[in-house]
Amino acid sequence: MCGVFGIVFAENRSDLGEYLVKASRKLVYRGYDSAGFATIKTDGSTQLKKGPGKLETVIEQFHIQKMSGSRGIVQLRWATFGEPTEANSQPHYDSDGDIIGAHNGNIVNTSSLIEAFKRDGYTVRSQNDGEMVVHAFEKYFNETKDPLLSMQKAQTMLKGDYAFIVGHQHDNHLLAVKKGSSLYVGIGKDFIACSSDLASLLQFTNKIVDIHDGEMIYYNHEHYQLYDLFSGAKIEREPYLSPIKVEEANLEGFAHYMKKEIHEQIIKTRELTELLNHDPHTLDETSKILSKANRIFIVASGTSYHASLIGSYYLNHIARLKTQVVIAGQFNEYYGHLVDNNDVVFCVSQSGETKDVVNVINPIRDQKLCPIISMVNIIGSSIAHKSDITLNIAAGVETSVPATKTFMNQILLFLYLSAYIAKQTGAPEAEEVFSIIGTIPELIAKTIEQDEEPCQALADTVISKAHDLYCLGYGLNYGSAMEGALKIKEVYYRHCEGMYSSEFKHGPLSIVEEGYPILFPASPSESGMVISHINEITVRKGFVVLISPYDEGYARNANSYIITPNCHHYLTPFANVVCMQLIAYFSSVLSGYDPDFPRNISKTLTVD
Ligand code: BG6
Repeated sequence: MCGVFGIVFAENRSDLGEYLVKASRKLVYRGYDSAGFATIKTDGSTQLKKGPGKLETVIEQFHIQKMSGSRGIVQLRWATFGEPTEANSQPHYDSDGDIIGAHNGNIVNTSSLIEAFKRDGYTVRSQNDGEMVVHAFEKYFNETKDPLLSMQKAQTMLKGDYAFIVGHQHDNHLLAVKKGSSLYVGIGKDFIACSSDLASLLQFTNKIVDIHDGEMIYYNHEHYQLYDLFSGAKIEREPYLSPIKVEEANLEGFAHYMKKEIHEQIIKTRELTELLNHDPHTLDETSKILSKANRIFIVASGTSYHASLIGSYYLNHIARLKTQVVIAGQFNEYYGHLVDNNDVVFCVSQSGETKDVVNVINPIRDQKLCPIISMVNIIGSSIAHKSDITLNIAAGVETSVPATKTFMNQILLFLYLSAYIAKQTGAPEAEEVFSIIGTIPELIAKTIEQDEEPCQALADTVISKAHDLYCLGYGLNYGSAMEGALKIKEVYYRHCEGMYSSEFKHGPLSIVEEGYPILFPASPSESGMVISHINEITVRKGFVVLISPYDEGYARNANSYIITPNCHHYLTPFANVVCMQLIAYFSSVLSGYDPDFPRNISKTLTVD
């Protein structure tokens, strides 16, 4: 996820840079591995200052506050296409520097566009998808000299979701496009501005015009016109006064980032699937390395470890690869001395900075022991730089400390990779798995719609009365149970132990007394064993909350049942973990805690 902002005044302003800096500070949560600022003066002269690094560093380095002009474009980047470098930062010029633009989104056919534009003689300066949007606009502007017609034609070349802002040096307007990514329009007393983020506008004006997906807006300092992006037809829409206070706007109406990011799992799984469908290059390299390995160690911490438990099941069952999951802090003690070049170490870390994981990578790299693959959310991170291959989960910035959408995209990427490898080896399941992957965003959406209330009710009636509890899982959903238990510990501060359900009878069962709550995410495919494990508890008056697609045996044997939408066995963790996230979230909020910034923990631990 990134952030864009574009503003137009009537005349050159010496305080334009101040406006751009203020806007950027409201966008920084959307991306902070690079930042860029462009200004255009009424005489058409332009300035572009951009680079990798934290926003405040870039602001200071380039004296952004001192920038002046009548138009300005800002972009905060969350790297998806191309490392965080100066060249890959946005905004971008077109080939001869009279057009400048920036986007937020994912252009999934970027690699083919780069080849095409280079072949056709455009000046391609980066690997970044945002630059391809500028060249697509440039292509048709050179033909038509009409910004609206140019954008109408340019969008036919672009596959994926985006919001785009572009300006020509000799046109006192900016053009902004909304196609799948967020965009808002603010009408000030002496300017008009567009932005990915409502809060960055509300600090300047609360007069807002709605722009919908598939629309574009052409605006100067006092006048705007909306158009249909595809037909070019004019759209008339009046502004209104937004009642939202600035601090609420980044949350886009949600009470907490955790809730917002649980809901974002719908669009983020869709975007990742589209990215993987259009650019399987890295999957291919990963497939080749994993398929040759004798042993595959998947190494991770926390939520990433739980995603890896599920990922390991997928790789073992679908891709038929022998993988084992190891807690990062445990690896060197147990296996470090055994690693040889027939192995592969597969590091999973959303931040790409977790020290426990870095400690695994360093000796392997120093001694060149074996290939290192990583799966991260931040492609410019230390773990990514130290890896031979990096898989990007493209979940965008995750603001809330408890991981939610990064977990979902991790297990999605594992599932996709498993099917991809299976397809290379001609395994029969591959096509079936690819067919169900496309249903994941809808499954998450249906789960939230169907189960949000039951999860809130469960939090209110059962979980809020528990001083501690267990979360059991069997087979594929062992990872679901471990992740559910962690969510409850992280945001509700109650002891909740995750455990493989067959282990529970070997001692922990003694904790069960009347009404003792046990959460049990499961799959109907595992009902034979799971019903035995349920009954071991219920005959001792424990209280089992089953979470799974409907199964009559579960309905008859569990004390409480959160029924998730019907889905393939492989997809049960997606829906089950959404429910666990919601149960933990509501339990936390009901207790007056802040689920986004829980006590004692942090988003990334770069210490031992
Ligand atoms: C912990 C975080 O510090 O690190 C967890 O609180 C996270 O949410 C864990 O799952 C691992 O982080 P990463 O970035 O390596 O996935």
